[in-house]
Amino acid sequence: MIITGKYPNLRLRRNRKTDWSRRLVQESNLSANDLILPIFIVDGKNKKESIKSMPGIFRYSVDKIPVIIDTAIKHKIPMVALFPYTNSKLKNNLGQESLNENNLVCKAIRSIKKKYKNKIGIMCDVALDPYTSHGHDGILNEGKILNDETIEILIQQSLLQAEMGCDIIAPSDMMDGRVGKIRKALDKNKFQDVQILSYAAKYASSFYGPFRDAVGSKKSLKGDKKTYQMDYNNSLEALREISLDIKEGADMVMVKPGMPYLDIIKLVKENFKIPVFAYQVSGEYSLIKNAIDKKIISENSILETLVGFKRAGASAIVTYFADKIAKSLK
Ligand code: PBG
Repeated sequence: MIITGKYPNLRLRRNRKTDWSRRLVQESNLSANDLILPIFIVDGKNKKESIKSMPGIFRYSVDKIPVIIDTAIKHKIPMVALFPYTNSKLKNNLGQESLNENNLVCKAIRSIKKKYKNKIGIMCDVALDPYTSHGHDGILNEGKILNDETIEILIQQSLLQAEMGCDIIAPSDMMDGRVGKIRKALDKNKFQDVQILSYAAKYASSFYGPFRDAVGSKKSLKGDKKTYQMDYNNSLEALREISLDIKEGADMVMVKPGMPYLDIIKLVKENFKIPVFAYQVSGEYSLIKNAIDKKIISENSILETLVGFKRAGASAIVTYFADKIAKSLK
């Protein structure tokens, strides 16, 4: 790096002296195009349910989704991510409700696609945790999560979501080899245009707590997810995961959670020429939101965290603040 001169003829504060000058030399630019809005869906009609551990976030019944999508489109948010709160009566060990073409996610995709066509993208998680009685992302057998047996269901779940009109299939389950198998099945069934966003570097994290509450898997979750989600002590392992998923056909990759993992985003960005997405997860949301509500930090802190993701190299960010921030970015 070349430094041209030194104090006192060189003063870095000169470029910071006014707002217009700071804008002129800005290196990162966050826009609404970078934001993905998660939506929680619940059964019923005309419902907007609050979620105890996520102040300001709600579960909506399918008929209420247009209210959110209309504002998302108005603020130029390119995509929403759908997550279902499944009635516990519909859950079992195999998570078979995931393959019901009238489950909440399927109903939501159909209704959004019918009304909005391609005005906004839809991404859906591929994983079994909203549907299993034990809250794990795969099939549980004698204390073990079965890899290959789980993939067989994930393939069916992906095909079903694609058939409903889902644009981006997002495997978030961390089973080995699922991206390749899902890609192959999609192609074989004429869904070669359906994109795959792999949650490739997903860490076993305490920051998912509020999300599990939002989708109703918190109480039922037995044990932890450390045999499939990554150990947060590791970063080289993230590169191995990502390079495998790229080889298997991922169009984009995700690093998750967000803020404690900016180094991973940067590593991935430097090592692979592929869009890297970040997920500012539920625990991060609730921490920030609670601190703002208690006036401990100001609302500007939200923007500061999201720009941090951009600076680290993220192409897009999944965040529960997406609608709020997109509005203010106008
Ligand atoms: C499910 C899934 C999780 C999240 C997204 N998809 C939770 C988990 O793996 O336990 C977390 C999102 C968040 O915390 O906001 N596989």
